[in-house]
Amino acid sequence: MEMAESAAPPVQQTQPLEEGAAPSQESMWGDGWKGQDRILVVRDLVKDFGGVRAVNHCSLEVLQGSITGLIGPNGAGKTTLFNLVSGAIPPTSGKIFLGGRRIDGMKMHQTFDLGLMRTFQIPREMGRMTVLENLMLVPEQQLGERVWASWLLPWRVIRQERRIEEKAFEVMDFLKLSHLANDYADTLSGGQKKLLEIARTLMTDPQVVLLDEPAAGVNRMLLRDIAASILRASVERDVTFVIIEHDMKVLMSLCDPVICMANGSVIAKGTPTQIRESPQVMEAYLGGAADDAA
Ligand SMILES: Nc1ncnc2c1ncn2[C@@H]1O[C@H](COP(=O)(O)OP(=O)(O)OP(=O)(O)O)[C@@H](O)[C@H]1O
Ligand SMILES: [Mg+2]
Repeated sequence: MEMAESAAPPVQQTQPLEEGAAPSQESMWGDGWKGQDRILVVRDLVKDFGGVRAVNHCSLEVLQGSITGLIGPNGAGKTTLFNLVSGAIPPTSGKIFLGGRRIDGMKMHQTFDLGLMRTFQIPREMGRMTVLENLMLVPEQQLGERVWASWLLPWRVIRQERRIEEKAFEVMDFLKLSHLANDYADTLSGGQKKLLEIARTLMTDPQVVLLDEPAAGVNRMLLRDIAASILRASVERDVTFVIIEHDMKVLMSLCDPVICMANGSVIAKGTPTQIRESPQVMEAYLGGAADDAA
């Protein structure tokens, strides 16, 4: 590996992601912008919850088509970062760009319209709906389902429903979930629920999908299916993934690059191997473990 020759530089400096960094920040398409491949850019993002700074001047970039891993000890700010990027909560300061367009401060339905999706645990009430119904709900939410539309344009609604149903079957087929179409979400195993969460993100042909711990609580067999599905969605459907994951096997097999956060900031990024061998990363985890033990 390139890095091995001579004195190993710190991991932060090993990645080409930082080449030509610090473009003109206002317009991502301005003169300073060389990274047209960067689909998601976070600049100097801060989020305070009262006295707690959950995200602390965090900057990172995600290359289009990548499966980027996001790791870090508990409380590092990973989920908060996803909440900020998806528009679930507003940042205290800083900027976020999706495809060159500024999205910080946008609401979740707006980032959704721009092709950014994130997974959510299937809420309890949706557990009493079938897998098919869970999937069909997604584009309806996106279209904002105006009540009047169904009285005034019933044929359009029927046509649209049919299209959505076809899409749901196509997505279930892709993720090998078709045999569960009429099962209630409640009755699925942990791994199948994770697949359903991923299926929901694919209903609208997203550009970027944020997955928060897709492997948590999933048995080894289904874990392989989930990892394979993510990889196929990346290659065949041109989806860029950012994945928060603690499972080292999943990370190593799926993600490149891997970004490590601690105390709200990015402390390292590199290939999975570089990250695994990074002293900063090790220290962040051991430091966290020491704090936990205290
Ligand atoms: N809504 C909130 N109100 C107050 N503090 C919050 C809130 N959400 C997160 N925090 C705090 O922000 C920090 C970062 O939390 P976050 O959940 O983003 O970490 P994480 O990296 O996702 O951790 P984990 O690996 O445990 O999921 C923590 O100190 C957490 O307690
Ligand atoms: Mg989290």
